[in-house]
Order: sequence, then structure tokens, then C-alpha cells
Amino acid sequence: MTYSNEAAAQAPLHLERLQLGPMANFVYLLVPTQRGRLAVVDPAWDVPALLARADELGRPLTDIVLTHHHADHRNGVEGLLERFSLRIHVQRAEKQWLRDAAWLSEVVWHDGGDVIELGGGATVTCLATPGHTPGSQCLLCNDNKILTGDTLFIDGCGRCDLPGGDAGALFKSLANLRTHLPKSTLVLPGHDYGPVPEASWEQQEISNPYLQLRADRDFVDYRLRPRS
Ligand SMILES: [Fe+2]
Repeated sequence: MTYSNEAAAQAPLHLERLQLGPMANFVYLLVPTQRGRLAVVDPAWDVPALLARADELGRPLTDIVLTHHHADHRNGVEGLLERFSLRIHVQRAEKQWLRDAAWLSEVVWHDGGDVIELGGGATVTCLATPGHTPGSQCLLCNDNKILTGDTLFIDGCGRCDLPGGDAGALFKSLANLRTHLPKSTLVLPGHDYGPVPEASWEQQEISNPYLQLRADRDFVDYRLRPRS
């Protein structure tokens, strides 16, 4: 879908969302309003669909941004590199998990707070949000939309029992977001795991059980409870 409300129409960056693959992944295209680059966040599962949309937009893909290293968020990288020359933006803390990737020479390693310039005033701010993985990042776009990858789902959050997961770190990451994000910020997750595909941060503070827990120990126990 395309965000085409009035605010988005005035913003320097349009977002498009595609749901792809067997795990209900959301893949986002970042389209600068003025001519500039074209970026894709977490390209996976259906490279032809991504190429077709880039062709419809009449722009070459120039940048890939990964919210984290898990395969279901990046298994389309190789396919896109067959067609385009791409910069791949990843948090530095994911480096150890990507040692075997064939495209490491194309990676731009980022730290929290880095800003990716996409031209025409369109920017993406990389927020380090470790917990689901050590180098998970959320991407703040146009100051009012945040792509949360597997850090935060609608009414859920990413698991922390996989290698590199750290529930205590995820608690701190979510607390930082709560402190710094305007409540009107639109949360755009990496999977369609909730009752709706997107919601405001304010709504998530009401309905997301992981944002109700204000004590580290309570959050960690709940996040690491046995899977039913
Ligand atoms: Fe993941």
C-alpha cells in the first residue's frame, strides 16, 4: 500500500508496504518524493515483485536497509544485487552474524543515530534497538513513522530466545523508544502478526502487552515464558 494522506504528500519520503513470503513479512520501499534514490527495507522472499515495483516507479534501487540479520528479512539481497549496484545499511553489531554473507563488501556499517540521506531532504534515522538481535535497528522516517522490524510488532514484540537475543536489552530499547518517540508516531512492523498492519505508538501503549510492563524483571520473565 502507499501512504497518500495529506501529511505524507508533503513529506520528502513516501513509504510503500508489500507483504511477502510464508512468514507474513512486511517489506517497505522508501521512495523520495523528489528524484533521488530508491531504498528497500528488509528485501526478502519475492525479488520479482520488488523489481516489478521499482520498474513501475521508474527508478533504480540504490539502497538496502536491514533491520537485522535474520534470513527472513534479507533472503532477497542476492537477487537484487544481480540487477543493481546497492549500498546495504546494517548496524555494526550485526557484523558477527553476517560473516558468511557474499555481499559484505557492499555493506555500510552504522551506529545508533546515523542518518541515511536518500536525496531531496529524505532521510532515515537509524535507531539502535538491541534485544531481538544485537544489532537490531528501528528506522525513523519523516519523523513520524518508524519501521520497527522484529523489535516491535503490533500488540507484540520479537522473540529473544534465538542466538544473540537479550530480553533485558529489548526492555531497555523499548523504554528508550517510549521516552523519545512522539505518541503520534506510526509503528510499521516487520511482520503482519497483529490485528492490524500498523498503529500509532499511543495505541500500542494501550494494547501491546509488552509495553505495559515497566519493570525489567517482569518484562524478561514474560518475554521468555515457555512458548505455548
Ligand atoms: Fe527476526
